[in-house]
Amino acid sequence: MAQEVRGVIAPGKNEPVRVETIVVPDPGPGEAVVKIQACGVCHTDLHYKQGGINDDFPFLLGHEAAGVVESVGAGVTDVAPGDFVILNWRAVCGQCRACLRGRPWYCFDTHNAKQKMTLKDGTELSPALGIGAFAEKTLVAAGQCTKVDPSVSPAVAGLLGCGVMAGIGAAINTGNVGRGDTVAVIGCGGVGDAAIAGSRLAGAAKIIAVDIDDRKLATAEKLGATHTVNSRNTDAVEAIRELTGGFGADVVIEAVGRPETYQQAFYARDLAGTVVLVGVPTPDMKLELPLIDVFGRGGSLKSSWYGDCLPSRDFPMLIDLHLQGRLDLGAFVSETIALDDIEAAFERMHHGDVLRSVVEF
Ligand SMILES: NC(=O)c1ccc[n+]([C@@H]2O[C@H](COP(=O)([O-])OP(=O)(O)OC[C@H]3O[C@@H](n4cnc5c(N)ncnc54)[C@H](O)[C@@H]3O)[C@@H](O)[C@H]2O)c1
Ligand SMILES: [Zn+2]
Ligand SMILES: [Zn+2]
Repeated sequence: MAQEVRGVIAPGKNEPVRVETIVVPDPGPGEAVVKIQACGVCHTDLHYKQGGINDDFPFLLGHEAAGVVESVGAGVTDVAPGDFVILNWRAVCGQCRACLRGRPWYCFDTHNAKQKMTLKDGTELSPALGIGAFAEKTLVAAGQCTKVDPSVSPAVAGLLGCGVMAGIGAAINTGNVGRGDTVAVIGCGGVGDAAIAGSRLAGAAKIIAVDIDDRKLATAEKLGATHTVNSRNTDAVEAIRELTGGFGADVVIEAVGRPETYQQAFYARDLAGTVVLVGVPTPDMKLELPLIDVFGRGGSLKSSWYGDCLPSRDFPMLIDLHLQGRLDLGAFVSETIALDDIEAAFERMHHGDVLRSVVEF
């Protein structure tokens, strides 16, 4: 029997979001229905609302979520009703050329639930990132559910479902930050701060936080930045070089998604260093760099999708480290809000007032 729950939709381009009744079908083969306990508000949800991702309105927003599996469809063996899970937006297929080569974090054929959730009049909804978790319950592919230690707070756990995992993974998976490395992180929102926390976890010796907002730099220090640079009034490249013996950082993580900050990252790294682009640019942005510098500076220029994470490997490990007091995921939760406060939360996010607002159910 399909169920009716409350959920938040973006009805059309730039229209305010609103709470609606959502019809959630019973899980089919390979699917699961999850009772959502918490879901963070991410920039990507705002991008969906603004029509910046695609035009498949109406969207069922929300994708940084944790909850309890309520029911599973035929053939689902990895999770069972009652399991506490974090939802992920890259359920790996196991069959594509990346998966078959043993590199499932690059999976080129990730999947979501096949059935559609709808409004009461039958209008099909597009769930944000194939999740749609600003809803009391949602339908996902079972592979989008990763079991973790249920003693963690759902508000904290859900954050690993997107931005915080992207940031931590940009440092530890894509950037391969290791003991003694110098790291600079440009853009200290939720993603950049997570890259800072990840770098600390990995044993970086020096972690330089760069942002144009002093409030963000203060939070970055709490999460592990050893030095801060306000690039509104200082040259970021020079400042990072000065702090690294004149050479630049071993790993520079760009967590803004703009050509000018990418360029800073490119020149703020040491010879043979690594740049990681985790910020997401818009399709119109262009980058111009002297090719001789790309060659002459050596090293590697990488992009990081979802922190190159493998949920089954990374989510339980990071939750365990958090529970042991070695990774302060709680610091990312600025406030907990109700389902009908999302429009206001977008506004606070837009003004840089919060790292993460989290809807609790
Ligand atoms: N790669 C992925 O898988 C992935 C996943 C989630 C989010 N993201 C992307 O990561 C980026 C950051 O996300 P967020 O949630 O942290 O956003 P956010 O808005 O919370 O943070 C952005 C930060 O960048 C700072 N900033 C803006 N312009 C700057 C500049 N010129 N120089 C230095 N700092 C500047 C802002 O002050 C802010 O602190 C976004 O582009 C987002 O889409 C990527
Ligand atoms: Zn695959
Ligand atoms: Zn997100």
